[in-house]
Amino acid sequence: MNETSEQATTARIGVLTVSDRASRGEYQDTNGPAIQSYLRGTLTSPWEPVTRVIPDVRPQVEAALRKMADMDGCCLVITNGGTGPAIRDVTVDATLAVCNKLLPGFGEVMRAVSLRSVPTAILSRQTAGIRGRTLVVNLPGSPKAIDECLDAVFAAIPDCLALMGWPRLETNTSRGKAYEPHAS
Ligand code: MTE
Repeated sequence: MNETSEQATTARIGVLTVSDRASRGEYQDTNGPAIQSYLRGTLTSPWEPVTRVIPDVRPQVEAALRKMADMDGCCLVITNGGTGPAIRDVTVDATLAVCNKLLPGFGEVMRAVSLRSVPTAILSRQTAGIRGRTLVVNLPGSPKAIDECLDAVFAAIPDCLALMGWPRLETNTSRGKAYEPHAS
């Protein structure tokens, strides 16, 4: 495969960690790596991560989402952190501001599934939306929450991206088996 066709078929996936302390280097980001690990275990088609760690500052979150969608060519951006009720939790607000379509079902399902393990799942305002041709999905900021939430919604993501005009992401059937009502 030459470089051009490889670039054309390698899905770029944004992994955006929103955390004041991780961005200051006060602790190592384990959430971004947890998302990448989930994707490695789930996707069988070629993909590459576009990673950032930024503070809980709304203009910076909006700018990072815009860059990943409009300039980096990400089909999917998965954020972690900043979905709760605290004053500095602004990831969801930034997502709502940059997206032109909302997919509230993602947040509804992730909260419902998470509620089985933590009563505080209702504190997360996590949602999903589409900016142009990029799907943005918010996750809470812990590795356990990341796995639980991705397990709850990942089956719908390949079909969502295909409906938005991207090449179909292939998934490992033993983990995040994609539901593909629109596959030809
Ligand atoms: N969802 C899952 N699956 N597991 C969790 O531990 N934590 C909850 C909630 N959703 C949690 C969860 C808590 S305590 C909060 S405050 C919110 O997510 C927001 O977390 P965030 O600010 O890190 O995004």
